[in-house]
Amino acid sequence: MFETIQYNGSKEENYELLIKQLDSLLEGETDLTANLANASSLLNQFLDQVNWVGFYLMKKSEVILGPFQGLPACVRIPDGKGVCGTATAEKQTMLVDDVHQFPGHIACDAQSQSEIVVPIIMGEQVFGVLDIDSPIKSRFDDTDQKYLEEFVETLKKHI
Ligand code: SME
Repeated sequence: MFETIQYNGSKEENYELLIKQLDSLLEGETDLTANLANASSLLNQFLDQVNWVGFYLMKKSEVILGPFQGLPACVRIPDGKGVCGTATAEKQTMLVDDVHQFPGHIACDAQSQSEIVVPIIMGEQVFGVLDIDSPIKSRFDDTDQKYLEEFVETLKKHI
């Protein structure tokens, strides 16, 4: 059974603990769906002020909805479209303080105000993205970006 813990340290210490939790949670399991589902659940119970946490996975020239926590979401996002498609096209993290100012933002949950999308890159190929939405503006900062990128690096060992 998964034991919830208190994250009582600094933001950095809490993220470091989270990433260790991820590594041990996924240890010994290779099923992609199971590992992405548990990764989204782990993140969702860790992060405050978020309304959507999940994955989109690359198939041909679009990403398709994968395991997530939150309201039902749009299923297919073409490469280059929205925040997710921009992250896959540019192969870099998109940190968006105000989604309403992002040209082409795709609104799946009307509550969302800010968003971070971290691409999952395996070798040269974009495998998918980690997408997190918040109901407040400027929810994510450089520290979130750094550690969410590390979270994805650890996740990649298990997919
Ligand atoms: N806002 C994203 C779409 C996915 S939802 O946030 C879950 C985008 O613009 O790509």
